[in-house]
Amino acid sequence: MRDLGLDVTIDGIGNVIGVRSGRTDGPPTMTGSHIDTVRTGGRYDGNLGVLAGLEVVETLEREGIQTEHPVAVGFFTDEEGARFPPDMLGSLVYVGGMAVEEALDVAFVELHVEQGPVLEAEGVTIGAVTGVQGISWTELTITGQSNHAGTTPMDLRHDPGYVAAAVVAHVRELALRMGSRQVGTVGRLELHPNLVNVVAASATMTVDLRNTDEALLQEAEADLARFVADAATAEGVTVAERTLARFEPVTFDDRVVDTVAAVASDLGHTVRRMPSGAGHDAQMLARVCPTGMVFVPSHDGISHNPAEHTEPDDLVAGADVLLQTILTLDRMVLESDGLDR
Ligand code: HGY
Ligand code: MN
Ligand code: MN
Repeated sequence: MRDLGLDVTIDGIGNVIGVRSGRTDGPPTMTGSHIDTVRTGGRYDGNLGVLAGLEVVETLEREGIQTEHPVAVGFFTDEEGARFPPDMLGSLVYVGGMAVEEALDVAFVELHVEQGPVLEAEGVTIGAVTGVQGISWTELTITGQSNHAGTTPMDLRHDPGYVAAAVVAHVRELALRMGSRQVGTVGRLELHPNLVNVVAASATMTVDLRNTDEALLQEAEADLARFVADAATAEGVTVAERTLARFEPVTFDDRVVDTVAAVASDLGHTVRRMPSGAGHDAQMLARVCPTGMVFVPSHDGISHNPAEHTEPDDLVAGADVLLQTILTLDRMVLESDGLDR
């Protein structure tokens, strides 16, 4: 950022924002993403949006293009939230930490890999993202009675491992029963003391539920809570629940989504509108300003996996759409709650 002559600021939680001045001062057109990954993540999730943002600035510099408004490129800290929940923590603080008036004055567009199978399966290069589904992360700590695996009769057991396994199966059954866009994942499951000949003393697990519809997401949460309570009572164990993250579905600003779709078409790329299954910093920025996202295909829909891959031609297409979207937004007058840019 400094090599590109950007004015760099680092806020109290570690978000880093670089700003390139425009003809006029005032609110920038902003892009960016995150550079943290899940421990077993790939190289595109987050990094693509930041590097493409820097590439946009480098292109403007090289071509001697001066924009009307400043252009900002940022990376937000702790987007993944896997170690320090909730996810999108940095961008959540950023939008909460900014004076709303100041925040309302930006337009934000993020380039990101789709992390799902849709674009590649349909042979489409660009996704004009319409919004992000709701996210519900719950940590369950199930406490039973540690005991001897050989001597404890089955009817005298209070086995948290058994309840945890029942919850795993129920999360799958629940998501399949609700169908449509409901998904459910148990990504973390730890038994203590985790020994072959010991009935577990406790089990700690996480449940990730998501849906594009807030009412259905609440229905899934209520179903899970009922099942956990019934299973715990039947086994004679106790359960402590902790909410790690809870974000409602977000719909992006039509003007930004339309711009992404129009720019992609004008550049000759195939494009389709679609919601995002993954959470993104853009869903936090959408709370305070006109926001959108550009997706490019993920090979085999794989992500949060070192095998994550996107073809170079698709990366270039995404960066081109990002550049032209930023230039188009720069020329637009976006009113956000009556505030002109
Ligand atoms: O959890 C998510 O969807 C994002 O990768 N943080
Ligand atoms: Mn990401
Ligand atoms: Mn991710």
